[in-house]
Amino acid sequence: MLRYLTAGESHGQGLIGIIDGYPGGVKISADDIDKELARRQVGYGRGGRMLIEKDGVEILSGVRWGKTLGSPICLQIRNKDWSNWEKAMSISSEYEGSVSPVTRPRPGHADLSGLIKYGHDDIRNILERASARETAIRVAIGAVCKLLLREFNIEIISHVTEIGGVGINKMVLKLGEIQKKAEASLLRCADKGAEKRMIKKIDSAKRNGDSLGGVFEIIVTNLPIGLGSHTQWDRKLNARLSFAIMSIQAIKGVEIGLGFEAARRLGSDVHDEIFYDKRNKKFYRKTNNAGGIEGGMTNGENIIIRAAMKPIPTLMKPLKSVDIVTKRPFLASVERSDVCAVPAAAVVGEAVVAFEIANAMIEKFGGDSLIEMKRNYNSYMKYVRGI
Ligand SMILES: Cc1cc2nc3c(=O)[nH]c(=O)nc-3n(C[C@H](O)[C@H](O)[C@H](O)COP(=O)(O)O)c2cc1C
Repeated sequence: MLRYLTAGESHGQGLIGIIDGYPGGVKISADDIDKELARRQVGYGRGGRMLIEKDGVEILSGVRWGKTLGSPICLQIRNKDWSNWEKAMSISSEYEGSVSPVTRPRPGHADLSGLIKYGHDDIRNILERASARETAIRVAIGAVCKLLLREFNIEIISHVTEIGGVGINKMVLKLGEIQKKAEASLLRCADKGAEKRMIKKIDSAKRNGDSLGGVFEIIVTNLPIGLGSHTQWDRKLNARLSFAIMSIQAIKGVEIGLGFEAARRLGSDVHDEIFYDKRNKKFYRKTNNAGGIEGGMTNGENIIIRAAMKPIPTLMKPLKSVDIVTKRPFLASVERSDVCAVPAAAVVGEAVVAFEIANAMIEKFGGDSLIEMKRNYNSYMKYVRGI
């Protein structure tokens, strides 16, 4: 089983990620991971922090001479801003009280519930960990998982389909084109016209001190049939993917395939009919309304997932809240913040999906070494082709 943990505060020394159960023999370098980290940091509508920090990873363990060992892989991203926070975020008690506690909980954040739950009197003790800064290390972990998936030609792409209610037009683009256009776009949006309208919407929200959310779509290609399982609730791949996506800060909804639209249609207009291609000895479907998963298992079609992100909760136009000490109302204080982070969230989405697919691949094909996995994979694919 593949698993991971992350640690680190937003303004602490840095972020740590440990991946356990990753097979040996996979080529990996810090550069591969840094490319993914850079993708998370771009996007129209991002705030000041993205300008001061360019993330870079250090691989601390689990890799020797450019290949994974099969032992836990430890990754570190240092926070470049640490020198400005050494006292405020000091591990030792030496600097206790050197900065004032944060006593004003921001609506839409973990601030108030976290403070009450953990018995703190300084909201900083909560906001530092609740912050989406943590997603940087998840992108690094996802990058490591993508390297394993690439060994099996499995690719994961994402694009933004909606921002603040402005959606893309129905597209007839091939996946490669969507990927190329999304990668070149300021908003990871493959529809140029929609991108323009989205930028206008972001500019207007910014002028009004407001923020925006949106929707992104993730597509996973070249999957073998049978990842995940129908046999137990926590083995269903659709459930595992939804959990992973919902664990991203600010994500409030997930759809697979047609998603909510399926609830509005007749069955005959939803379910993907099955055909057989005699020449290529292959079952196939002409539609993919199921989004590549039936009964909790991959069916060989592309996985298609969409996620809804709420608007960024820190607004320049302050929202009402109550000071936890004085119990008096105030208008939530304004900090440096993103106006819209949907493109970045899409990259985080790719990362958490990469982890889930890598885990399902290891579960199905055994994972002590890449060679062992490939042997099992090849023999299974031969069996599938021979059906
Ligand atoms: C990539 C990304 C960037 C984010 N940037 C900000 C930000 O700059 N300011 C902010 O208030 N929230 C930001 N958020 C959202 C908050 O982290 C999130 O809404 C908050 O922690 C509360 O969690 P919840 O929305 O999941 O309930 C961001 C989320 C993501 C995924």
